[in-house]
Amino acid sequence: MKRVLAFAGSTSSTSINKQLVSYTANQLKNVDSNVIDLNDFKVPVFSEDLEKEIAYPEGATKFNELLDNHDGFIISLAEHNGSYAAAFKNLFDWVSRKDREVFRNKPVLLMTTSPGARGGATVLASALGTFPHMGANITGSLSFPKFYDNFKEGVILNEEFIENLSKEITEFEKALN
Ligand SMILES: Cc1cc2nc3c(=O)[nH]c(=O)nc-3n(C[C@H](O)[C@H](O)[C@H](O)COP(=O)(O)O)c2cc1C
Repeated sequence: MKRVLAFAGSTSSTSINKQLVSYTANQLKNVDSNVIDLNDFKVPVFSEDLEKEIAYPEGATKFNELLDNHDGFIISLAEHNGSYAAAFKNLFDWVSRKDREVFRNKPVLLMTTSPGARGGATVLASALGTFPHMGANITGSLSFPKFYDNFKEGVILNEEFIENLSKEITEFEKALN
């Protein structure tokens, strides 16, 4: 059975991106999906100076192992000031120092959500520009606006989003097989 790693680019205990990624992972059929939390992969703030001083952080090693051991990734990025949440970017930078092909040429379903009307579209555009150069085979992407209006009690309320997400899941599943 194919193994899918799902995570939010957020360390918030109430992360809406984690809610979206968990929902999406639950929709996959005949797949072993593993929803993780970035809080379990603590790393110091990256700098090239620190990199020379310390051993490669255990949190980044553990994350690299998961990237190796799974067949595809579902990611939903939080948007902070138009960019990645600092904790995600920091872990991403550490991981990229071990293997620049961060996503190992595996399928990636990329999403963003926020409470606002743009749904994290700015960070999504940034990731769409960068991730393919880091080994991501992006099978589809989706920004999910106005999270609190459109997602309640673990369910998506907007029919159009349900349909769009379902199409992206189908494309992702095809690429996994
Ligand atoms: C420092 C900071 C900056 C933010 N900047 C943006 C932004 O640029 N665009 C946006 O749509 N929401 C922004 N937000 C609101 C986040 O989208 C919101 O906090 C969301 O819940 C973050 O996702 P998460 O719950 O998965 O962590 C910002 C929030 C914080 C704390």
